[in-house]
Amino acid sequence: MNIQQTDKTGSIEIAGHENKEARHPKDPSAQSAPSRLTRRAFLRATAVSAAALAVGSVPASLAAGGGGGGGGGTVTRYPLRIPLTFSPSNYSLTAAPGAADLGGGKFSSVLAYNSLFPGPTFQANKGDSASISFTNGLSEATTIHWHGMIAPTNADGQPQDLVAPGGGKSYQFPIIQRACLNWYHPHPHMATGKQVVLGLAGAFIVNDAEEAALGLPSGAHELPLIVRDANFDRAGNLIYNPTSSGYLAKNPMVNGTRDPYLNVDTALYRFRVLNGASARLFKIALNNGAPFTLIGNDGGLLETAVQVSQIEFSPGERLDLLVDFRGLSVGTKVMLQDLNAGWNLLEFNVTQGVTDNYAIPTTLSTITKLSNPVTTRSFSFDGMTRINGKEYDLNRIDFQVPFGQTELWRFTTNGNAPHPVHIHGASFQVQSRTGGRGVLFPWERGWKDTVLLNDRETVEVLIRFDGYRGRYLIHCHKLEHEDQGMMSNFVVS
Ligand code: C2O
Ligand code: CU
Repeated sequence: MNIQQTDKTGSIEIAGHENKEARHPKDPSAQSAPSRLTRRAFLRATAVSAAALAVGSVPASLAAGGGGGGGGGTVTRYPLRIPLTFSPSNYSLTAAPGAADLGGGKFSSVLAYNSLFPGPTFQANKGDSASISFTNGLSEATTIHWHGMIAPTNADGQPQDLVAPGGGKSYQFPIIQRACLNWYHPHPHMATGKQVVLGLAGAFIVNDAEEAALGLPSGAHELPLIVRDANFDRAGNLIYNPTSSGYLAKNPMVNGTRDPYLNVDTALYRFRVLNGASARLFKIALNNGAPFTLIGNDGGLLETAVQVSQIEFSPGERLDLLVDFRGLSVGTKVMLQDLNAGWNLLEFNVTQGVTDNYAIPTTLSTITKLSNPVTTRSFSFDGMTRINGKEYDLNRIDFQVPFGQTELWRFTTNGNAPHPVHIHGASFQVQSRTGGRGVLFPWERGWKDTVLLNDRETVEVLIRFDGYRGRYLIHCHKLEHEDQGMMSNFVVS
């Protein structure tokens, strides 16, 4: 599998940036049966590496490699990888062990979609259809969930619809929602954390006419940033060594690049940011004190742009940010930082002067407010494994939601946060937060599909399922909590 084979007419390649392609190690044919992971096995797991999930073996060059970064001393920075972009119509996607250059020219074993780490970025317009022919080249079962896409149950990649190793599935769904940044990742019960952390995730951008009319920065001035943390073994291979409370790894990584930099023009940039970590909250800021102009989040554009200098967001949440490098002189460096961990995430090097007179529109979009909920439902996120006292059961449906009815859903927790609450099948509008941080933040306006529930908080949202009838999920997007059972099935009927 290589880029050329999968490139389809109409696909878009972002030019002018490093596109490092992962290599593919060995032939994924002779692997044993799917490993069924029990909860106990999950908790017992100390370290799983992508190589351990590889079929056959890891290239000798990997085994022989040293270092992989970390440690003290001067930080060498590497060009930010920009994932290749493709149309999701008639696209073939394979999940398999692969090897990726995380920055230094040395290849690390990862799990990859089409040998790309992160996976290919899909880009489509509202009204298009996604038609993805998926092949599972892993040594265990998987699914693909299209996080944020409103997809029918049979295309939603839920844990019930496992694709066996060597098997395949055609994921087909029309793109019925407004412009936004979504993403895709595996969703097999008890193995989501491992598969995502070892590399299986990619961006899915939806565009529409409302967004296009704004003339926002595009082309080389619009980039996805998938921010996450990662641990490595001595040879620099990605590993997954979780604890049940949530996986906090030691190194930041953006778009699969360690210690990245990006050369920028003196222009306004649009960054489509995803927290792709398993459990970590990032609190991002620019080290020159300049604010971000926040224009959108999970469910697309906000009604109005707002300037914010720090944004804390949880796994699964997205941000649509404008960053203004106009007025900076060539040679200036600006660091995107995570104030929580004290990490330097991405260094912007202003390398080229250009003219950019774009004026950020004051009105971005119109959002019809949900109102007058018919029913209230409460969800208590208990411990690290339960919702309303129950661990997930693949075969149990916990409640029924009438199609097209506006409801108020109330999320509470006493501890073990962060619990990023994520719902499949519909977006919601956040109404209030009491306890804990006690306020709503600018990036929680508009449409959301994931909202951060921190310790002792109660968060209320309004939601209406008007896409499809069928089975959907609500769960904690801290992947270790999700894998341990903090997830619930419901049916829209
Ligand atoms: Cu991003 Cu149900 O998940
Ligand atoms: Cu949780």
